[in-house]
Amino acid sequence: MIVSTTPTMADKTPRVVILISGRGSNMISIVNAVNEGSLPIKIAAVISNRPDAAGINFAQQAGIDTAIIDHKAFASREVFDQAMASKIDTYSPDLVILAGFMRILTTEFVEHYANRLINIHPALLPKFKGMDTHQRAIDAGETEHGASVHFVTAELDAGPVILQAKVPILSTDTAKTLAIRVLEQEHKLYPEAINKLVTNS
Ligand code: GRF
Repeated sequence: MIVSTTPTMADKTPRVVILISGRGSNMISIVNAVNEGSLPIKIAAVISNRPDAAGINFAQQAGIDTAIIDHKAFASREVFDQAMASKIDTYSPDLVILAGFMRILTTEFVEHYANRLINIHPALLPKFKGMDTHQRAIDAGETEHGASVHFVTAELDAGPVILQAKVPILSTDTAKTLAIRVLEQEHKLYPEAINKLVTNS
């Protein structure tokens, strides 16, 4: 009898930790893709910096490990980031996924997770880094807008883009209607971009 000691694919399933701050709809789309069998990752944990993040309840009910690390309990950004990294590292993640995580990260944190830290930004980077992207795209007279999944580097919203999704901007659009159209795309884009990364496709 031949007994194989080669690790199976299951042993190699990439482990991810997802960081959220709020409703967590992008995190939910990733969990759903995993449960549907279209995304071969293990979600090791969902961590929030806000105790009231609605997404945490969903993750708990989905049977995922969760943690809340309230940034307000820490004296500085550096100490908060160190606490986050210590917790994240207990899960040995291959990928750390920012999904509506609304904190600026220190360079030390970003460098610690170099090439394994990704974010989704609601704009077609390099256009409209930062906040209020939908209103700014309308005000600028853009005819299209969208979302980008990108690697996180020390400079805000400036890391290499992995995948983007585009939507048209309609003459009737407000920031609210445009945000809804972009978010629909985000929910497809994030699982697809993660899949591209973990399968090297
Ligand atoms: C999304 O629009 C995402 O692009 C941005 O923050 C929002 C988070 O939404 N980074 P949710 O918490 O995933 O619902």
